[in-house]
Amino acid sequence: MTAYIEKIADFEGQQVTLRGWLHKRRSSGKIHFLTVRDGTGFIQAVMSKSVVGEEAFHRADHLGQETSLAVKGTVRADKRAPGGYEIDVTHFSVIGESTGYPITNKEHGVDYLLDRRHLWIRAPRQQAILRIRHAVVDAVRDFFNNRNFTLADTPIFTPAACEGTTTLFPVQYFDETTAYLAQSGQLYNEANIMALGRVYCFGPTFRAEKSKTRRHLTEFWMVEPEMAFATLEDAIKLGEALVVTIVARVLETRRQELEMLNRNIAALEQVRAPFPRITYDEAVDLLKLKGQQFEWGGDFGGTDETVLAEQFDRPVVVHRFPSAIKAFYMKSDPERPELSLSVDFLAPEGYGEIIGGGERLDDLDELLARIEKHNLPKESFEWYLDLRRYGTVPHSGFGMGIERVLTWICGLEHLRETIPYPRMLYRMYP
Ligand code: 4AD
Ligand code: MG
Repeated sequence: MTAYIEKIADFEGQQVTLRGWLHKRRSSGKIHFLTVRDGTGFIQAVMSKSVVGEEAFHRADHLGQETSLAVKGTVRADKRAPGGYEIDVTHFSVIGESTGYPITNKEHGVDYLLDRRHLWIRAPRQQAILRIRHAVVDAVRDFFNNRNFTLADTPIFTPAACEGTTTLFPVQYFDETTAYLAQSGQLYNEANIMALGRVYCFGPTFRAEKSKTRRHLTEFWMVEPEMAFATLEDAIKLGEALVVTIVARVLETRRQELEMLNRNIAALEQVRAPFPRITYDEAVDLLKLKGQQFEWGGDFGGTDETVLAEQFDRPVVVHRFPSAIKAFYMKSDPERPELSLSVDFLAPEGYGEIIGGGERLDDLDELLARIEKHNLPKESFEWYLDLRRYGTVPHSGFGMGIERVLTWICGLEHLRETIPYPRMLYRMYP
């Protein structure tokens, strides 16, 4: 019977075969203790000379870290074992040898590890993060599917900017045209809701961010819901419910991984609705009060976001930013036209912006004026203008960066560990 380590409890007292890799080996004369991992967990396989025989025992003498192998044996409950079980080996075979594995127990520099990211992901900590990533992605999909949003994928080759022209990645598109890698699926989402009502897209997005910060990747995954007949308030409510759902799911299904990352779990347990809300104006006052040099009208820097977020024990919703610092598609606040119906969610503990969105400009003439003001090529936006020509409706939505959310939930220093192969200013390998 072949078994996986995460389900090993179902096989107590039975003979099973495990296939995996050697994580660690320790020997004491007549016994080898092999820590085996199979992608679902870790277990100690106890191999004694008297059971497996002299020859097999000596074959295991020099097994290198990450040797792939199969072990057969009986599952035994052991309270002292990390997962609660061990396996008493009766047979073992090597599948693929491994000598001189470059990532050992000693400290390695982060560049060394990033150069070997294809191997680094095998480390227990990295596995834990990637499992939590899966749980987050899964929770996101369930959240929207349970609310009857339709998944509608948006293109990656696009003809124009969505989030400002300074972070576009150009791509030669056959002979004559330049395409740009999508910065956001939002504009297409806006077309899709006019067909489907409420949609979301979930895919990779690209930003040519020249900044080398711990919060920026050049390729990251964003989930973007969009709703017809919806206001800024609707977008805020949806974002709040989404974040609460994700955190609850990770706490429920991946607590062990959070513990292995030494995450402060009590802090995550605070994440319940309603989230505190402040306007941009109030945020500016708060920053000044806390001694930050900040002028009304500016955009928040990383430190400003941290200072703001530190005042709260759960994500804080900042709304109504000046139109001048937000994207061209933001609707103006009818009460104060210099402000936009925009929103950012800032994660607690200084993890920065996790959600950005708001209500969209739905009037044709105003949108035309904005496109002109932002110096955007009108020809490329004709299709987008059509949405205001044929049955426009108030609508809103947002984008949530998966890696930002994960960095916060896992309590990491840097975004780079939250995605299997991070893409950054100075890194595209492996
Ligand atoms: O605030 P942003 O730029 O908003 C948009 O792209 C909207 N068009 C989304 C929408 O309304 N549909 O990006 C949204 C989120 C940010 O809050 C952040 O979580 C993440 O995307 N993000 C990044 N994550 C990693 N690396 C980067 N360089 C990121 N830029 C934005
Ligand atoms: Mg933003």
